[in-house]
Amino acid sequence: MGSLPFTTSDLQTSTSGVPSSPTLLCTPLMGTTVDQMFIEMRKAKEIGADIVEIRLDCLRNFNPRQDLEILIKQSPLPALVTYRPIWEGGQYEGDENKRQDALRLAMELGASYIDVELEVAHDFNMSISGKKPDNFKVIVSSHNFHNTPSAEAIGNLVARIQATGADIVKIATTALDITDCARIFQIMVHSQIPTIGIVMGERGLISRLLSPKYGGYLTYGALEAGAISAPGQPTAKDLLDLYNFRLIKPDTKIYGIIGKPVGHSKSPLLFNASFKSVGLNAVYLHFLVDDVAKFFNTYSNPDFGGCSCTIPHKEAALKCMDDIDHIAKKIGAINNICHRPDGKLYAFNTDYIGAISAIEDGLRELNGKAPGTESPLAGKLLVVLGAGGAGKSLAYGGAQKGARVVVANRTFERAKELADKVGGKAMTLEEVEHFHPEEGMVLANTTSVGMKPKIDETPLPKHALKHYCLVFDAIYTPKDTRLLREAKETGAVIVYGTEMLIRQGFEQYKNFTGLPAPEELFRQLMEKHA
Ligand code: ATR
Repeated sequence: MGSLPFTTSDLQTSTSGVPSSPTLLCTPLMGTTVDQMFIEMRKAKEIGADIVEIRLDCLRNFNPRQDLEILIKQSPLPALVTYRPIWEGGQYEGDENKRQDALRLAMELGASYIDVELEVAHDFNMSISGKKPDNFKVIVSSHNFHNTPSAEAIGNLVARIQATGADIVKIATTALDITDCARIFQIMVHSQIPTIGIVMGERGLISRLLSPKYGGYLTYGALEAGAISAPGQPTAKDLLDLYNFRLIKPDTKIYGIIGKPVGHSKSPLLFNASFKSVGLNAVYLHFLVDDVAKFFNTYSNPDFGGCSCTIPHKEAALKCMDDIDHIAKKIGAINNICHRPDGKLYAFNTDYIGAISAIEDGLRELNGKAPGTESPLAGKLLVVLGAGGAGKSLAYGGAQKGARVVVANRTFERAKELADKVGGKAMTLEEVEHFHPEEGMVLANTTSVGMKPKIDETPLPKHALKHYCLVFDAIYTPKDTRLLREAKETGAVIVYGTEMLIRQGFEQYKNFTGLPAPEELFRQLMEKHA
């Protein structure tokens, strides 16, 4: 058993909107005029940010005294003022003294924070020594747009920043690999003073999302997807609504989907909404992974509870596992990995479980039988069209349930190879057309024939469908394929590809948490967002 069951102590007592995380959410304002910044400030407050970062270097025709007075005094949220010079990745190209004068003025006018670059921080902090208002804090920042240095080098950098008299340390590095984030987590956890640790770039996303887990002082969330102040920045809305940022705490368990690309995956939406619905102290992220082995070696802490696995890692991940479910091993692909309490990685293939259970329920519906121990597939003739990844899942899964399996494929050799492995019969697609040794067979299409955009195609002509009592199509774009429409017309029970997709998700949820998935919620979200 590979699941890592949750106990009652993992259940939060309250999931109301009250922030349980001390990490602040800061929204950068990138308007080029004071008026634009006002609009942005109000939006940031509406979305639920805690702080706004006024990026003075974005303003055109900036008039320090007049503009700062208005911006800071009228901001509906505490203001962090940044005036980033071009030499630190910002837009300001003018006189350095004038830049620092504007920052000092911001402090005097009531900014809650100013951000000053490490390069000039020592002298700057000397210049305001003894003049800092109560509750005002200086963030001393360092940006590395090339890479993420070693843990030792980052440690030295933190020490240098602290030595300038910083109230808050900010280190922003660049992710060349998702594992770079681990070094920033380590720094945040061990830092003696409040620290903002950000790994920029799309491979650094988890450094921003997990800031509350590792005690980061704040994280940045953009107002809109296009309006980011640094590479890889998520929107404030996604932080709050998609990743449940306010619910992430030091003991929150981490899950996610590894893939490349992975940003399009809807799994975080499904899992995070599900975790929240039952008050489970867990979060599910997008993991953009290049090197699977390096990923598992780096994030080997049991806090990383497991992951879903998608293209192109379904096969490479196999090699990193300590143990693999026996059917998944035969299929040669995994899509669900659980980190067991003993530190071992255990893998499943939930695709085949999703498809087979959907077909079994379809047959039970047909036979009017209640769910029992005996599989309704036992003894049935199951014809699998296709011999790729999905074909293997259906053929092995069906054989395991006691079905007599026939594999039909465009390339006969592939059909033969798979059929031999499952103890079944192989044939070409043309042969299936005239294959009807008995009535009441089960058909499962796993080829891509009929998938968008070629929705008028079908893998088997309608006349051949009358010998089947149930037809399943793994295609889910479109949901209603020509094959399923025609099967329905001939009187067969039909099982949609979306059903396999949803059910494989239920299974992953169960493996991760040891609890049944909130099925109705999963279905509603799939319906809404698919
Ligand atoms: P998956 O992992 O989704 O199953 P795959 O491994 O690429 O995808 O397999 C695709 C399956 O669809 C294969 O069985 C393929 O047949 P071949 O083995 O002959 O390539 C089948 N397929 C794809 N396009 C097809 C087409 N136009 N007609 C018939 N079969 C097709």
